[in-house]
Amino acid sequence: MTAQPGSGGQGSPPSIAIRGPRVLLRVLQPDEIDAEWHAMTTADPMTVGMMPDEASFRDRLSRSGQLRGGWLDLAIDLGGQSVGRIQTFVPTGRPVSPGVFNVGIGLREHARGLGYGREALALLTDWLFVCAQAQVVEAPTDPANTAMRTVFERSGWRLVGTVHELGRQWVLYGITRQQWAAAGGRG
Ligand SMILES: CC(C)(COP(=O)(O)OP(=O)(O)OC[C@H]1O[C@@H](n2cnc3c(N)ncnc32)[C@H](O)[C@@H]1OP(=O)(O)O)[C@@H](O)C(=O)NCCC(=O)NCCS
Repeated sequence: MTAQPGSGGQGSPPSIAIRGPRVLLRVLQPDEIDAEWHAMTTADPMTVGMMPDEASFRDRLSRSGQLRGGWLDLAIDLGGQSVGRIQTFVPTGRPVSPGVFNVGIGLREHARGLGYGREALALLTDWLFVCAQAQVVEAPTDPANTAMRTVFERSGWRLVGTVHELGRQWVLYGITRQQWAAAGGRG
């Protein structure tokens, strides 16, 4: 994994870009924000915690590539095309301690089941521990989301409990700085 500066807007810090063997996590382009909104509106409800309003979603994604107040959105780029998005977010109604980051991810249908989700998760997890002083990286998912649960388990994350959030029950997976270091610094 390498983290490198991209081109931030005027006055902004450089955009975050994280390169792995196959995927690059990078800033979203304007047309990709349209595609992300479309993906959000057509997603399986099992995979969406809370539907954001369109304006605030677009506004947030227009600031992608920057970590601000626990929020970061990055395109998952495969050979120059965005095939999805990975993010950190601040949960609604679940206080998190400093150093705890929550992660979410979604790939376009054609890019699923090929290992890109696992690679993207490992890249972002590493980056959060190395560059953002993370102590814990965690993520809720629907108990029935087998693909997501498999990715967490294959990536060295642990099932840490269940949470009731946004009117639903979720399973919460996580990895601590110690567990990440013990695994050789790879998520
Ligand atoms: C969840 C998601 C990010 C996983 O990324 P991915 O690239 O598809 O996952 P990978 O190919 O790395 O691995 C998926 C694993 O789950 C397994 N899997 C996938 N669907 C499965 C299913 N329905 N039942 C059993 N296993 C399944 C795959 O075989 C693979 O296991 P393997 O490592 O033994 O081969 C991706 O599928 C996705 O975007 N799904 C829709 C959005 C979503 O659910 N986001 C998460 C919300 S919390």
